[in-house]
Amino acid sequence: MNDGYQLQLALPDDFHVHLRQGTQLPAYARRSAAQFGRILVMPNTLPPICDGAALRSYRAEIHTAAPDCQALMTFKLVPGMGTAAVQDCIEAGAIAGKYYPAGATTNAADGVADPQQISDELALMQELDIVLSIHAEDPLSPAMEREAAFLPIVERLIRNYPKLRIVLEHLSSAAAVAAISNWPERVAATLTAHHLTYTIDDLLGDKLQPALFCKPLLKSAADRAALLQAATSGSPRFFFGSDSAPHPADAKLSAAAPAGSYTAPLALPLLARCFEAAGRLDRLEYFVSRAGADFYQLPPKQGSVLLTKKAWRIPERIDDAIPPEAGRLINWQAQRLP
Ligand code: DOR
Ligand code: ZN
Repeated sequence: MNDGYQLQLALPDDFHVHLRQGTQLPAYARRSAAQFGRILVMPNTLPPICDGAALRSYRAEIHTAAPDCQALMTFKLVPGMGTAAVQDCIEAGAIAGKYYPAGATTNAADGVADPQQISDELALMQELDIVLSIHAEDPLSPAMEREAAFLPIVERLIRNYPKLRIVLEHLSSAAAVAAISNWPERVAATLTAHHLTYTIDDLLGDKLQPALFCKPLLKSAADRAALLQAATSGSPRFFFGSDSAPHPADAKLSAAAPAGSYTAPLALPLLARCFEAAGRLDRLEYFVSRAGADFYQLPPKQGSVLLTKKAWRIPERIDDAIPPEAGRLINWQAQRLP
């Protein structure tokens, strides 16, 4: 595409974002609202979102910061929470429950060690048609194999809960793409801009890039190609979830950097660049503005974003976090229109 080329998309949704809590929450929420009409907010705050009252007050905080962006809420599945707490979250408006394997990622020490621990909770979610969202990694497997190692557990969940709708989050491997394609239509997946853009070599092939350190880890070029093929395929099974996960710059630059990439401020430019390189800009709107809403059975949303092919420099810091490609030029801009 030539410089100045413009593309208008129906207002996109982000079906996986971390907004944290406390002083930075408003900035993170507004950053998402600059590009997205709806965001599915992850519950791995401290303390986690596990009951209706916590969910309501978290949503209210987000709404105050970014009233033009609809926060879709999730709750965290923790062993022993019980079906009453699940019911409470659903009554408060949750549309998904999030399964973190214990110890798999940031703030997941209280997660699930074995799906049996939450069998009653999952049965209730199935009965009430609430989506099960999964961080599909086995933290006890070698780092690059954790996603593939978790697929048999998902397979068991699919078998044991024959009506449960499931989303595998932030796919990182060709193996997971193939699995999704073979599973029933009630199983779908989110794809992030960073897993579509980078490989493990971008993270650590030269100087270490903490901004690209995330869970699941970035994988090989072949894995990335499989993800890009899925994203641009027009399949209703693959849709956008940024997994934008900001951490303060000083934590990211410490000797024990936490996992998470702050991609919300540049998600659409990154995606436009990927889809353009694949020769499939025509499929970007379906991926970011339609497929996920269809899966979550949400109505179309008013508004649009305008993508313009025009270079801008990614700041060194955004909201005190280090974005990917900080200080470098990227050749797409996104502007939300009313
Ligand atoms: O890289 C990640 N960061 N992956 C996750 O699953 C969680 C997230 C976070 O909350 O920082
Ligand atoms: Zn996440």
